[in-house]
Formats: sequence, structure tokens, C-alpha cells
Amino acid sequence: MARIELVGVAKRWGNTVAVEDMRTELEDREFVAILGPSGCGKSTTLFLLAGIYAPTEGEIRFDGVRVNEVEPKDRNVGIVFQSYALYPNMTVEQNIMFPLRFVSMEATEAQKQAREIAELVQIEKLLERRPGQLSGGQQQRVALARALIKKPNLLLLDEPLSNLDATLRLSMRSEIRRIQRELGVTTILVTHDQVEATTMADRIICMNDGRIEQIDTPENLYRRPNTTFVASFVGSPPINLVAGSIRESRFVAGERSFPLSGITETAEVWMGLRPELLAVADEGLPATVATIEPMGREILYGADSPLGFLRFLEAAPLPRFSFGDKVRLATVVENVLFFDGTDGGRIDGASLNEFS
Ligand SMILES: Nc1ncnc2c1ncn2[C@@H]1O[C@H](COP(=O)(O)OP(=O)(O)OP(=O)(O)O)[C@@H](O)[C@H]1O
Ligand SMILES: [Mg+2]
Repeated sequence: MARIELVGVAKRWGNTVAVEDMRTELEDREFVAILGPSGCGKSTTLFLLAGIYAPTEGEIRFDGVRVNEVEPKDRNVGIVFQSYALYPNMTVEQNIMFPLRFVSMEATEAQKQAREIAELVQIEKLLERRPGQLSGGQQQRVALARALIKKPNLLLLDEPLSNLDATLRLSMRSEIRRIQRELGVTTILVTHDQVEATTMADRIICMNDGRIEQIDTPENLYRRPNTTFVASFVGSPPINLVAGSIRESRFVAGERSFPLSGITETAEVWMGLRPELLAVADEGLPATVATIEPMGREILYGADSPLGFLRFLEAAPLPRFSFGDKVRLATVVENVLFFDGTDGGRIDGASLNEFS
């Protein structure tokens, strides 16, 4: 098992920057998710850790030892590619045993280990089949078993659940987490599904455009996002961002202003209001219902307000408001976030006194 460090790691191809100045440390046995939009450098980060790519700059360390020059096969890293990449002409058992081909080991011992791992991921009845005779979820488990057979120091999972249906995805989430705990293997899961990241990981690395925006617990990413990017990317439906300024200890947006404390003047700011933390109340900001989206157990409304279009969420199976209804929106002021309008960074210390 391993503690992983990335120290100022960059990967570039000519002018293309895939990853820039990555700095982070993963604890031994930690489960970390990398979350970010397409093209932000998630897969590149995994390939750097696996040794498939060499960093252009910086150092990668396993348990304090530099591994930049260590061959992939000598890093003891298990990787599950998004495509599974199983060998179609081999049986499940042969696929699982494939990483042991350079390990000197009796064939019977290799088979015994393959069976143990197959039991762990619950495919022990499928060992004689070929990948073409398996469902997507079963193939995914074979890929997982193959990644686990060498008891890796580090397990890298690149969107391993993206091809599964919703039900199977749910059960695989908890299964992967169970296996990870059982083996105590440091794990990095790449996903662009934030629910997957928040339900599975101890910590999340939120990436944007090749850089780390924030590394934090799921709860902190949600409650204390460092930037407007993180605030918008984590949380669903996305946070409402209202453009304004802070003047004489008031947040000013258009005709409206709200008293706040902790800060007196900032030319451009964003006020962040989470839709699920806005609620219809007797008193509050006047608004007119403009959109209604039933989402199963919740209704997502959009309303025109003096602060512009705001989304708010209500837990209810059926809508209780109609288009054009006049409502008032309230929120707990401690939940309102402020960000710098220029660099998007969270403004600490600014707290709203009143929202109405
Ligand atoms: N071999 C390569 N040569 C040149 N550019 C590359 C190469 N591989 C990746 N890139 C570029 O590096 C950036 C990051 O790519 P990467 O595959 O890491 O993104 P990702 O976050 O995994 O995206 P996705 O969610 O779509 O899988 C992208 O702009 C991509 O075009
Ligand atoms: Mg990718």
C-alpha cells in the first residue's frame, strides 16, 4: 500500500498543456476521486501515476521515493481503463491472471489467486467464459479483478462505471468501496459524475483546465468551495450566481441591496445561492415562478426575481406552484457564499445579515 505524492507535476505535448503544477498528497489507503469536466486532465493524471506517461516537469513519489524513472510494470499499480480493454480471445481466468505473466509463480498458485480475486468481485462462476459472453457489468468486474490480482499499491479507476445502467452502477459503487476497504489499497477514481465522487470518496480533487481547483472532503467542496468553478461544478442543480458589488457593507445587485458584515468594499463579486437552500417563505425576496421541472421526488423551479433568474428546489412529488405564481424566497444567511468577481476565489469573512 502506498502514500502518493505529486510535486509540481506537469504534462505537456508541445503547446498543449494537459496537466500543470499538480501538487497533492494521498494518504495510504485513502480513496480519492478526481472530478472535472471533459479534457481537464483526469486521465492524463492517471497515466502519469501508472507510468504510461512521463511527466514533463515535477516529481511523482510512492512512499517518499521518486518513481519518475520506474517502468509501469515495476510500479505495482492496478489500472482499470474506461474501455475495460479485456483480451477477447482469452477466458475470464486468463484475463485475470495476465498481469502475473512476469511473476515467477506456479500455475496452480496463479489459478488459486485468480479464483480468490474472482470471488471478491463475485464472478467466480464465469471463469471459463470469454469477455464476449459477459454483460457490461461482468466485464467491468473482470477488469477490476485483473487490476487487483497483483495486490497493487495503488488502484487507478478511469470512469469504470460509465457504461453501466443506473441500477448496476449503484451496486458497483458500494462494491468497489467494499473491496477497496477490504484490501486497504490507495485508490484514485476518475469520474465526471459528482454523485459518484461524493458518495465513494474520502476526498475529491476537483480539476479544471489541467489544474487542481480544490482538494477537499465532499462536504467541504459543497459548503466551502474555493472558487466559482467548484461551486458550480459540485452541487446539483448548479448554484445560482448573482453578479453584484459590495459597497458600504452592502451587497448591491441592480436595484437591490443587502446588508452584510466582514467586508466593506469589493468592486465585483458573485453571490452564491444554492437552489436546495432557497425556500418559499412568508417573507423574503419577491419572485415569480417561470419554470417548473419535476425531477421525481423533487421539483426544480425557476423564478424571475430582482436578482435575476433564480432556481430553487422543493422536496415534493408534485408541483404546488404554477407559472406566474408570486412567491417569496428565503434562505439561511449563513449558507450564502461570496466570490471575487475577478478571479472567482471565495471571499472569506463576508456574511450576509439579511436576505429579503
Ligand atoms: N497524447 C496526447 N497528445 C496531445 N494532447 C493530449 C494527449 N492526450 C491528451 N491530450 C490533451 O490533454 C488534455 C487532457 O486530456 P485528458 O485525457 O487527461 O482529459 P480527461 O479529463 O480525461 O477528459 P475526459 O473526461 O474527456 O476523459 C486534453 O486537452 C487532451 O486533448
Ligand atoms: Mg479521460
